[in-house]
Amino acid sequence: FHNHFIESVRPLIELIDSLKLIGLDEDIGLPSIAVVGDQSSGKSSVLEALSGVALPRGSGIVTRCPLELKLQKLKNGPWSGIISYSGHRETFNDPLKVDTLVREAQNKLAGKAVGICDELITLEISSPDVCDLTLIDLPGITRVPVHDQPEDIGDQIKTLILKYIAKSETIILVVVPCNVDIATTEALRMAQKVDPEGLRTLAILTKPDLIDRGAEIEVLNIVQGKVIPLSKGYIIVRCRGQSDINDRIPFDKAMEAELKFFRNHHYFSSLLDDGKASAQCLADKLTKELADHIKKSLPSLTEQIQTRLLSVQRDLKNYEQGPPLEEEMMGPFLSEIILVFSDQINELSRTGHSKDKN
Ligand code: GDP
Ligand code: NA
Ligand code: MG
Repeated sequence: FHNHFIESVRPLIELIDSLKLIGLDEDIGLPSIAVVGDQSSGKSSVLEALSGVALPRGSGIVTRCPLELKLQKLKNGPWSGIISYSGHRETFNDPLKVDTLVREAQNKLAGKAVGICDELITLEISSPDVCDLTLIDLPGITRVPVHDQPEDIGDQIKTLILKYIAKSETIILVVVPCNVDIATTEALRMAQKVDPEGLRTLAILTKPDLIDRGAEIEVLNIVQGKVIPLSKGYIIVRCRGQSDINDRIPFDKAMEAELKFFRNHHYFSSLLDDGKASAQCLADKLTKELADHIKKSLPSLTEQIQTRLLSVQRDLKNYEQGPPLEEEMMGPFLSEIILVFSDQINELSRTGHSKDKN
Protein backbone atom coordinates (compact mmCIF):
# COMPACT_ATOMS: atom_id res chain seq x y z
CA PHE A 1 0.00 0.00 0.00
CA HIS A 2 1.33 3.41 -0.90
CA ASN A 3 -0.83 6.48 -0.95
CA HIS A 4 0.88 9.74 -1.81
CA PHE A 5 -1.55 12.00 0.03
CA ILE A 6 -1.52 9.98 3.22
CA GLU A 7 2.26 9.80 3.16
CA SER A 8 2.70 13.52 2.62
CA VAL A 9 0.24 14.50 5.35
CA ARG A 10 1.76 12.14 7.91
CA PRO A 11 4.48 14.56 9.16
CA LEU A 12 1.79 17.18 9.80
CA ILE A 13 -0.21 14.73 11.87
CA GLU A 14 2.91 13.84 13.81
CA LEU A 15 3.52 17.51 14.50
CA ILE A 16 -0.01 17.90 15.80
CA ASP A 17 0.36 14.77 17.91
CA SER A 18 3.51 16.10 19.53
CA LEU A 19 1.84 19.45 20.24
CA LYS A 20 -1.02 17.58 21.89
CA LEU A 21 1.45 15.48 23.82
CA ILE A 22 2.92 18.55 25.51
CA GLY A 23 -0.61 19.34 26.63
CA LEU A 24 -1.86 21.96 24.19
CA ASP A 25 -5.57 21.46 24.30
CA GLU A 26 -6.46 24.03 21.66
CA ASP A 27 -8.23 22.42 18.73
CA ILE A 28 -5.37 22.03 16.33
CA GLY A 29 -6.82 19.20 14.31
CA LEU A 30 -6.79 19.39 10.54
CA PRO A 31 -9.78 20.72 8.63
CA SER A 32 -12.01 18.18 6.90
CA ILE A 33 -12.10 17.98 3.13
CA ALA A 34 -15.47 17.94 1.39
CA VAL A 35 -16.39 17.50 -2.27
CA VAL A 36 -19.12 19.40 -4.13
CA GLY A 37 -20.18 18.92 -7.69
CA ASP A 38 -22.81 17.72 -10.09
CA GLN A 39 -23.92 14.15 -10.11
CA SER A 40 -21.28 11.87 -11.64
CA SER A 41 -18.72 14.67 -11.85
CA GLY A 42 -16.21 12.38 -10.14
CA LYS A 43 -16.46 13.43 -6.48
CA SER A 44 -16.26 9.94 -5.01
CA SER A 45 -13.46 9.09 -7.42
CA VAL A 46 -11.39 12.05 -6.22
CA LEU A 47 -11.90 11.09 -2.57
CA GLU A 48 -11.01 7.53 -3.41
CA ALA A 49 -7.77 8.67 -5.04
CA LEU A 50 -6.91 10.69 -1.93
CA SER A 51 -7.81 8.09 0.69
CA GLY A 52 -7.17 4.78 -0.98
CA VAL A 53 -10.60 3.68 0.26
CA ALA A 54 -12.75 2.25 -2.52
CA LEU A 55 -16.03 4.14 -2.21
CA PRO A 56 -19.19 3.38 -4.17
CA ARG A 57 -18.99 5.08 -7.53
CA GLY A 58 -20.67 4.93 -10.87
CA SER A 59 -22.98 6.68 -13.25
CA GLY A 60 -26.19 8.12 -11.90
CA ILE A 61 -26.97 8.91 -8.30
CA VAL A 62 -24.62 6.73 -6.33
CA THR A 63 -23.84 8.89 -3.31
CA ARG A 64 -27.23 9.52 -1.75
CA CYS A 65 -26.35 10.38 1.84
CA PRO A 66 -23.47 12.42 3.20
CA LEU A 67 -20.62 10.10 4.07
CA GLU A 68 -18.00 11.06 6.58
CA LEU A 69 -14.87 9.06 6.04
CA LYS A 70 -12.78 9.23 9.18
CA LEU A 71 -9.33 7.84 8.71
CA GLN A 72 -7.53 6.89 11.89
CA LYS A 73 -3.94 5.90 12.06
CA LEU A 74 -3.08 2.88 14.15
CA LYS A 75 0.40 2.29 15.53
CA ASN A 76 0.02 -1.30 14.45
CA GLY A 77 -2.71 -3.83 14.01
CA PRO A 78 -4.84 -4.88 11.08
CA TRP A 79 -7.16 -2.79 8.89
CA SER A 80 -10.55 -2.35 10.47
CA GLY A 81 -13.70 -0.50 9.54
CA ILE A 82 -16.73 0.67 11.47
CA ILE A 83 -19.81 1.91 9.69
CA SER A 84 -22.40 3.75 11.74
CA TYR A 85 -25.67 5.51 11.00
CA SER A 86 -28.93 6.17 12.88
CA GLY A 87 -28.39 3.69 15.68
CA HIS A 88 -26.73 1.06 13.51
CA ARG A 89 -23.10 0.19 14.05
CA GLU A 90 -21.12 -2.53 12.40
CA THR A 91 -17.48 -3.51 12.54
CA PHE A 92 -15.78 -5.22 9.61
CA ASN A 93 -12.29 -6.25 8.57
CA ASP A 94 -12.42 -6.50 4.80
CA PRO A 95 -11.73 -3.31 2.80
CA LEU A 96 -13.65 -4.80 -0.12
CA LYS A 97 -16.84 -4.68 1.94
CA VAL A 98 -16.88 -0.84 2.08
CA ASP A 99 -18.83 -0.55 -1.16
CA THR A 100 -21.57 -3.01 -0.17
CA LEU A 101 -21.96 -1.71 3.36
CA VAL A 102 -22.22 1.93 2.26
CA ARG A 103 -24.80 1.04 -0.39
CA GLU A 104 -26.71 -0.97 2.20
CA ALA A 105 -26.64 2.00 4.60
CA GLN A 106 -27.92 4.32 1.88
CA ASN A 107 -30.72 1.93 1.01
CA LYS A 108 -31.79 1.84 4.63
CA LEU A 109 -31.62 5.60 5.09
CA ALA A 110 -32.77 6.88 1.71
CA GLY A 111 -34.75 3.99 0.28
CA LYS A 112 -33.75 1.60 -2.46
CA ALA A 113 -34.45 3.92 -5.39
CA VAL A 114 -33.03 7.36 -6.05
CA GLY A 115 -33.93 9.02 -2.77
CA ILE A 116 -31.59 11.38 -1.00
CA CYS A 117 -31.23 11.65 2.74
CA ASP A 118 -29.37 14.12 4.90
CA GLU A 119 -28.60 11.62 7.62
CA LEU A 120 -24.89 11.12 7.97
CA ILE A 121 -23.17 7.81 7.42
CA THR A 122 -19.89 7.62 9.29
CA LEU A 123 -17.23 5.28 8.08
CA GLU A 124 -14.21 4.96 10.34
CA ILE A 125 -11.22 3.23 8.87
CA SER A 126 -8.36 2.38 11.18
CA SER A 127 -5.11 1.13 9.79
CA PRO A 128 -1.37 1.76 10.08
CA ASP A 129 -1.53 2.88 6.44
CA VAL A 130 -3.83 5.88 6.85
CA CYS A 131 -3.60 9.25 8.58
CA ASP A 132 -5.97 11.03 10.95
CA LEU A 133 -8.00 12.86 8.35
CA THR A 134 -11.69 13.38 7.66
CA LEU A 135 -13.07 13.40 4.13
CA ILE A 136 -16.71 14.09 3.34
CA ASP A 137 -18.45 12.66 0.29
CA LEU A 138 -21.69 14.42 -0.61
CA PRO A 139 -24.58 13.69 -2.96
CA GLY A 140 -24.30 15.42 -6.31
CA ILE A 141 -26.23 18.51 -7.29
CA THR A 142 -29.22 17.77 -9.49
CA ARG A 143 -31.77 20.04 -11.06
CA VAL A 144 -34.40 17.83 -12.59
CA PRO A 145 -36.19 15.30 -10.40
CA VAL A 146 -36.08 11.73 -11.74
CA HIS A 147 -38.50 8.88 -11.03
CA ASP A 148 -40.42 9.64 -7.88
CA GLN A 149 -38.01 12.21 -6.51
CA PRO A 150 -39.76 15.18 -4.91
CA GLU A 151 -40.20 18.34 -6.97
CA ASP A 152 -37.75 20.27 -4.79
CA ILE A 153 -35.00 17.64 -4.81
CA GLY A 154 -32.50 20.18 -6.17
CA ASP A 155 -33.08 22.56 -3.27
CA GLN A 156 -32.98 19.71 -0.76
CA ILE A 157 -29.57 18.62 -1.98
CA LYS A 158 -28.24 22.15 -2.05
CA THR A 159 -29.36 22.74 1.54
CA LEU A 160 -27.68 19.51 2.56
CA ILE A 161 -24.43 20.43 0.82
CA LEU A 162 -24.39 23.96 2.22
CA LYS A 163 -24.65 22.56 5.74
CA TYR A 164 -21.28 20.91 5.22
CA ILE A 165 -19.36 23.41 3.12
CA ALA A 166 -20.46 26.42 5.20
CA LYS A 167 -18.19 25.32 8.05
CA SER A 168 -15.08 27.46 7.97
CA GLU A 169 -13.08 24.41 9.06
CA THR A 170 -13.77 22.64 5.78
CA ILE A 171 -11.69 22.68 2.64
CA ILE A 172 -14.02 22.63 -0.35
CA LEU A 173 -13.08 20.65 -3.42
CA VAL A 174 -15.28 21.80 -6.28
CA VAL A 175 -15.35 18.93 -8.77
CA VAL A 176 -16.16 19.74 -12.40
CA PRO A 177 -15.76 17.42 -15.38
CA CYS A 178 -13.65 18.86 -18.21
CA ASN A 179 -16.45 18.29 -20.67
CA VAL A 180 -18.87 20.55 -18.81
CA ASP A 181 -19.05 24.33 -19.00
CA ILE A 182 -17.51 25.50 -15.74
CA ALA A 183 -19.04 28.96 -16.02
CA THR A 184 -22.45 27.49 -15.38
CA THR A 185 -21.37 25.16 -12.60
CA GLU A 186 -23.65 25.41 -9.60
CA ALA A 187 -21.01 23.82 -7.35
CA LEU A 188 -18.63 26.71 -7.96
CA ARG A 189 -21.37 29.22 -7.23
CA MET A 190 -22.20 27.47 -3.97
CA ALA A 191 -18.57 27.43 -2.89
CA GLN A 192 -18.22 31.11 -3.76
CA LYS A 193 -21.27 31.85 -1.65
CA VAL A 194 -19.80 30.32 1.53
CA ASP A 195 -16.19 31.20 0.76
CA PRO A 196 -16.34 34.46 -1.27
CA GLU A 197 -12.59 35.02 -1.24
CA GLY A 198 -11.89 31.45 -2.21
CA LEU A 199 -9.52 30.91 0.69
CA ARG A 200 -10.57 27.29 1.22
CA THR A 201 -11.87 26.39 -2.23
CA LEU A 202 -9.92 24.33 -4.73
CA ALA A 203 -11.33 23.50 -8.15
CA ILE A 204 -10.74 20.05 -9.59
CA LEU A 205 -11.29 19.23 -13.23
CA THR A 206 -12.00 15.57 -13.89
CA LYS A 207 -12.34 13.29 -16.91
CA PRO A 208 -9.66 14.91 -19.10
CA ASP A 209 -9.73 11.75 -21.19
CA LEU A 210 -13.29 12.51 -22.25
CA ILE A 211 -12.76 16.00 -23.69
CA ASP A 212 -14.13 16.55 -27.15
CA ARG A 213 -11.50 16.97 -29.80
CA GLY A 214 -10.83 20.68 -30.26
CA ALA A 215 -11.92 21.65 -26.78
CA GLU A 216 -8.52 21.05 -25.19
CA ILE A 217 -7.31 24.67 -25.45
CA GLU A 218 -10.41 25.89 -23.66
CA VAL A 219 -9.77 23.42 -20.82
CA LEU A 220 -6.12 24.46 -20.70
CA ASN A 221 -7.19 28.10 -20.31
CA ILE A 222 -9.53 27.14 -17.50
CA VAL A 223 -6.84 25.22 -15.60
CA GLN A 224 -4.49 28.17 -16.01
CA GLY A 225 -7.10 30.41 -14.42
CA LYS A 226 -7.67 32.50 -17.52
CA VAL A 227 -11.41 31.93 -17.66
CA ILE A 228 -12.57 32.11 -14.03
CA PRO A 229 -9.67 33.08 -11.78
CA LEU A 230 -9.73 31.41 -8.36
CA SER A 231 -7.35 32.28 -5.57
CA LYS A 232 -6.37 28.65 -4.92
CA GLY A 233 -6.49 27.71 -8.57
CA TYR A 234 -7.26 24.51 -10.43
CA ILE A 235 -5.96 20.96 -10.64
CA ILE A 236 -6.84 18.56 -13.40
CA VAL A 237 -6.96 14.85 -12.53
CA ARG A 238 -7.71 11.65 -14.36
CA CYS A 239 -9.39 9.09 -12.14
CA ARG A 240 -10.35 5.51 -12.81
CA GLY A 241 -13.11 5.32 -15.37
CA GLN A 242 -15.87 2.76 -15.25
CA SER A 243 -13.92 0.33 -17.44
CA ASP A 244 -10.86 0.62 -15.16
CA ILE A 245 -13.09 -0.28 -12.25
CA ASN A 246 -14.67 -3.17 -14.11
CA ASP A 247 -11.18 -4.40 -15.01
CA ARG A 248 -10.18 -3.99 -11.36
CA ILE A 249 -7.22 -1.78 -12.19
CA PRO A 250 -5.49 -1.21 -8.83
CA PHE A 251 -4.79 2.30 -7.49
CA ASP A 252 -1.07 2.39 -8.05
CA LYS A 253 -1.51 1.19 -11.64
CA ALA A 254 -4.21 3.81 -12.17
CA MET A 255 -1.90 6.53 -10.83
CA GLU A 256 0.89 5.43 -13.11
CA ALA A 257 -1.50 5.47 -16.03
CA GLU A 258 -2.63 8.94 -15.02
CA LEU A 259 0.92 10.33 -15.03
CA LYS A 260 1.55 8.70 -18.37
CA PHE A 261 -1.68 10.19 -19.72
CA PHE A 262 -0.61 13.74 -18.81
CA ARG A 263 3.02 13.28 -19.78
CA ASN A 264 2.04 12.20 -23.28
CA HIS A 265 -0.76 14.71 -23.66
CA HIS A 266 -0.23 17.19 -26.46
CA TYR A 267 -1.88 20.07 -24.58
CA PHE A 268 -1.64 19.15 -20.91
CA SER A 269 1.92 17.85 -20.45
CA SER A 270 3.17 21.27 -19.30
CA LEU A 271 0.52 21.31 -16.55
CA LEU A 272 2.31 18.38 -14.96
CA ASP A 273 5.45 20.49 -14.46
CA ASP A 274 3.39 23.45 -13.26
CA GLY A 275 1.92 21.32 -10.48
CA LYS A 276 -1.55 21.61 -11.97
CA ALA A 277 -2.21 18.05 -13.12
CA SER A 278 -2.55 14.59 -11.50
CA ALA A 279 -3.88 13.24 -8.22
CA GLN A 280 -0.35 13.46 -6.88
CA CYS A 281 -0.29 17.23 -7.44
CA LEU A 282 -3.68 17.49 -5.81
CA ALA A 283 -2.29 15.61 -2.83
CA ASP A 284 0.70 17.96 -2.62
CA LYS A 285 -1.48 21.00 -2.91
CA LEU A 286 -3.86 19.78 -0.22
CA THR A 287 -0.94 18.97 2.06
CA LYS A 288 0.27 22.53 1.65
CA GLU A 289 -3.21 23.81 2.49
CA LEU A 290 -3.26 21.71 5.64
CA ALA A 291 0.21 22.90 6.63
CA ASP A 292 -0.88 26.51 6.13
CA HIS A 293 -3.83 25.80 8.36
CA ILE A 294 -1.51 24.67 11.14
CA LYS A 295 0.71 27.68 10.56
CA LYS A 296 -2.28 29.94 10.99
CA SER A 297 -3.00 28.45 14.41
CA LEU A 298 0.61 28.90 15.53
CA PRO A 299 0.26 32.45 16.93
CA SER A 300 -2.51 31.31 19.27
CA LEU A 301 -0.47 28.25 20.17
CA THR A 302 2.44 30.50 21.12
CA GLU A 303 0.06 32.51 23.28
CA GLN A 304 -1.15 29.32 24.95
CA ILE A 305 2.41 28.25 25.67
CA GLN A 306 3.21 31.68 27.14
CA THR A 307 0.18 31.58 29.44
CA ARG A 308 1.07 28.11 30.58
CA LEU A 309 4.68 29.10 31.19
CA LEU A 310 3.58 32.04 33.36
CA SER A 311 1.30 29.85 35.45
CA VAL A 312 4.04 27.28 35.96
CA GLN A 313 6.46 30.04 36.97
CA ARG A 314 3.90 31.33 39.48
CA ASP A 315 3.43 27.85 40.94
CA LEU A 316 7.15 27.48 41.13
CA LYS A 317 7.41 30.69 43.09
CA ASN A 318 4.89 29.37 45.64
CA TYR A 319 7.18 26.44 46.25
CA GLU A 320 10.27 28.60 46.56
CA GLN A 321 10.56 27.86 50.29
CA GLY A 322 10.51 24.15 49.63
CA PRO A 323 11.53 21.44 52.12
CA PRO A 324 15.01 21.97 53.56
CA LEU A 325 17.70 19.65 52.40
CA GLU A 326 19.21 19.14 55.87
CA GLU A 327 17.39 16.61 57.99
CA GLU A 328 17.70 18.55 61.28
CA MET A 329 15.80 21.45 59.70
CA MET A 330 12.86 19.21 58.70
CA GLY A 331 11.14 19.40 62.11
CA PRO A 332 10.90 23.20 62.24
CA PHE A 333 9.92 23.26 58.56
CA LEU A 334 7.03 20.85 59.07
CA SER A 335 5.78 22.59 62.20
CA GLU A 336 5.80 25.88 60.29
CA ILE A 337 3.65 24.32 57.54
CA ILE A 338 1.30 22.79 60.11
CA LEU A 339 0.94 26.16 61.86
CA VAL A 340 0.02 27.85 58.60
CA PHE A 341 -2.40 25.06 57.83
CA SER A 342 -4.10 25.26 61.23
CA ASP A 343 -4.39 29.05 60.86
CA GLN A 344 -6.19 28.44 57.59
CA ILE A 345 -8.54 25.91 59.18
CA ASN A 346 -9.31 28.36 61.98
CA GLU A 347 -10.00 31.13 59.53
CA LEU A 348 -12.20 28.84 57.48
CA SER A 349 -14.31 27.69 60.44
CA ARG A 350 -14.65 31.31 61.66
CA THR A 351 -15.62 33.01 58.41
CA GLY A 352 -16.51 30.22 56.04
CA HIS A 353 -13.80 31.53 53.71
CA SER A 354 -10.23 30.63 53.29
CA LYS A 355 -7.73 33.48 53.20
CA ASP A 356 -5.58 31.39 50.97
CA LYS A 357 -5.65 32.90 47.52
CA ASN A 358 -5.06 29.54 45.86
P1 GDP B 1 -19.79 11.30 -8.33
O1 GDP B 1 -21.20 10.99 -8.63
O2 GDP B 1 -19.48 12.75 -8.49
O3 GDP B 1 -19.34 10.78 -6.99
O4 GDP B 1 -18.92 10.58 -9.45
P2 GDP B 1 -18.17 9.18 -9.39
O5 GDP B 1 -16.87 9.30 -8.68
O6 GDP B 1 -19.12 8.15 -8.94
O7 GDP B 1 -17.83 9.00 -10.92
C1 GDP B 1 -18.82 8.90 -11.90
C2 GDP B 1 -18.30 8.06 -13.02
O8 GDP B 1 -17.27 8.74 -13.70
C3 GDP B 1 -17.71 6.74 -12.57
O9 GDP B 1 -18.09 5.74 -13.48
C4 GDP B 1 -16.22 6.96 -12.63
O10 GDP B 1 -15.51 5.78 -12.89
C5 GDP B 1 -16.11 7.91 -13.79
N1 GDP B 1 -14.93 8.78 -13.71
C6 GDP B 1 -14.50 9.52 -12.66
N2 GDP B 1 -13.38 10.21 -12.99
C7 GDP B 1 -13.07 9.85 -14.24
C8 GDP B 1 -12.01 10.23 -15.15
O11 GDP B 1 -11.11 11.02 -14.84
N3 GDP B 1 -12.05 9.66 -16.39
C9 GDP B 1 -13.05 8.80 -16.78
N4 GDP B 1 -13.00 8.30 -18.01
N5 GDP B 1 -14.03 8.44 -15.96
C10 GDP B 1 -14.05 8.96 -14.72
NA1 NA C 1 -22.23 9.10 -9.59
MG1 MG D 1 -20.42 9.95 -5.50
